[in-house]
Amino acid sequence: MKAKSLKRELAVWLFGVLSTLLAVDAWYSYSDALRAANQAYDRSLSASLKGIAERIYATESEIVVDIPYSALELFEAGSSDRVFYSVGLSGEAPITGYDALPTPSDLEPNIAVFYDGYYKGQALRLGAMLKPLYRTEFAKPVVVVIGETTNSRQEVVQRLFKSEIGRKALLVVVALLVALSATRIAVKPVESLGEAIRSRPDDDLTPVDSRQVPAEVVPLVDAINLHMDRIGRMLEARRRFITDAAHQLRTPLAVLNTQAEYALRQRRAEDMRPAVEAFHQSLGSAIRLTNQLLALSRAEPVNGLMLSRQQVDLAAIARDMVVELLPLAERKRIDLGYEGDDSPLFIAGNPVLLREMVANLIDNALRYTPTDGLVTVVVEAAPESARLRIIDNGPGIPEGSRDQVFLRFFRLNPNDHHGSGLGLSIVREIVHGHDGEIELLDAPDGQGLEVRVSLPA
Ligand SMILES: Nc1ncnc2c1ncn2[C@@H]1O[C@H](COP(=O)(O)OP(=O)(O)O)[C@@H](O)[C@H]1O
Ligand SMILES: [Mg+2]
Repeated sequence: MKAKSLKRELAVWLFGVLSTLLAVDAWYSYSDALRAANQAYDRSLSASLKGIAERIYATESEIVVDIPYSALELFEAGSSDRVFYSVGLSGEAPITGYDALPTPSDLEPNIAVFYDGYYKGQALRLGAMLKPLYRTEFAKPVVVVIGETTNSRQEVVQRLFKSEIGRKALLVVVALLVALSATRIAVKPVESLGEAIRSRPDDDLTPVDSRQVPAEVVPLVDAINLHMDRIGRMLEARRRFITDAAHQLRTPLAVLNTQAEYALRQRRAEDMRPAVEAFHQSLGSAIRLTNQLLALSRAEPVNGLMLSRQQVDLAAIARDMVVELLPLAERKRIDLGYEGDDSPLFIAGNPVLLREMVANLIDNALRYTPTDGLVTVVVEAAPESARLRIIDNGPGIPEGSRDQVFLRFFRLNPNDHHGSGLGLSIVREIVHGHDGEIELLDAPDGQGLEVRVSLPA
């Protein structure tokens, strides 16, 4: 997906909002302009209407209409408009002027009324009023109507409207341009920040200087610095781990070397045999150490194995591992047993890692419990979780060392070269990767160790 552009988004929004506002404003501007033009033009319509009405009078036999030229000239001077008028008794054909001009029905004496109408296909603005004659011969009043085509009125409206809208449209365009260049200015520091980070050497994890950036970008810089700090510490931990691992591997390899040299010095094949046996044993520890290193690397969160979770039957895994390690237990005459239901106990997890975890814990129990000992593996359901307990009756781990044994390469007995000191680190990595918890306790009988692992169901 293409990244959203701030500039584009802002432009679209601003343009949408401003043009809607402009459209609404245009509507109001148009009605304002029309009202202003009507007001001005109606005033002269009114003058003409009154001019004509003043010159209407009645004798005993007829009505005299003497339309003053000025009343009509007013409109025609220099304008493209035509004027229509009619004077006649209310409800009858006009005495003079045009036939059937639109006339409102509810006129009142001596009050001019203005309205829009159509006449012979042309839009007209009209004024009308009633003039009472106050004579018994003519009971009905005279209706005076005068209308004018709206060309020049429209011209004025359009001129007013266009200049108004033109100015405002210009304002919208300027506002858009200002907003766009403002985002460009605002985004600039982010771009140069990106450039500065991109052009760094690979191993430069020093903090970015947040004094060079505007206040709004400081949180981003802080977050980058925090992340770089984390990466730096992770790299340092990894570097230390590789050094430690190399040191740990060096010991069995040096022993192997000595044993090989010793074997080579022997002249007779049968003298070589004990040396080769020792050689074989040391090789076993070296292989174990290498396997543990690999297991640890697999269990690390960066490896992503933890992400591929599925429904896993923890009880089945525990039973399988007990069966798998029975030969090891028999060699030490240890009574290795499984306690728990035969029904499955499902948790969301990675089966490979969970087997690794159980194997390491049973291996520890068998390894550190003396001959003829007792090791019990328990799997039980707990509220919203599953619990795995591995109980032995060996020497246990003193309370003060229960944190340390989780450290990489830590062994309670540093002279024990069979272990790698990685087992519990691997276990804890796997437990935490499954959002679980691990505890070291005294065994229920008092003698020995109980390792208790809780994993969310
Ligand atoms: N069940 C146990 N009983 C007594 N001590 C134990 C037990 N499990 C672990 N330990 C102690 O914790 C240390 C660290 O264990 P671990 O990380 O598995 O490394 P390793 O077993 O390779 O030495 C062991 O060296 C041992 O001293
Ligand atoms: Mg171990």
